[in-house]
Amino acid sequence: KRLVVLVSGSGTNLQALLDAIAERGADAYGAEVVAVGADRTGIAGLERAERAGLPTFVCRVKDYANRDEWDRALAEATAAHEPDLVVSAGFMKIVGKEFLARFGGRTVNTHPALLPSFPGAHGVRDALAYGAKVTGCTVHFVDDGVDSGPIIAQGVVDVRDEDDESALHERIKEVERRLLVEVVGRLARDGFSIEGRKVVIP
Ligand code: GRF
Repeated sequence: KRLVVLVSGSGTNLQALLDAIAERGADAYGAEVVAVGADRTGIAGLERAERAGLPTFVCRVKDYANRDEWDRALAEATAAHEPDLVVSAGFMKIVGKEFLARFGGRTVNTHPALLPSFPGAHGVRDALAYGAKVTGCTVHFVDDGVDSGPIIAQGVVDVRDEDDESALHERIKEVERRLLVEVVGRLARDGFSIEGRKVVIP
């Protein structure tokens, strides 16, 4: 299966996928990353892709007349690589109608909180501020909401008294990277169906 991965930052989730595929072999894992897209330049995620010899593309919102034009450009740039699955790994933009028309139902996102708790761009900070005792990460399908699509898998992480946002986020990311690699491999190898809010992987 062909994966396009979308990033906005350090790209450690992308790196985890690349490492797993390199280690197990694309055939055994069931997928290979064919391209990496981003909403901004100058991020480690794009450097990781370039180091892996992968094609990259960048669609910056400010380069387009409006959000819909950006969304269309992102969808077209993604479609050019003919993905079977799109993985949003730390991609910090909400995709729109055009993107979902083409890739809805086969775009997976990873979020650093236990959805439906603490959706949005500051899930780690919000869980900490709320005083949650456990938090974690969620891998889910993207729908037309924000972090609201059908949940595929979740991982739990304890919150420690001494945690600040970055310490907690790093601990979450250790679980998140393993969860994402496992989920993407299963979806690619075994296929899946989405029945309402239920994801079935045979
Ligand atoms: C991940 O925790 C992701 O869930 C969140 O931002 C982080 C991205 O990390 N949206 P990286 O870019 O994969 O290192």
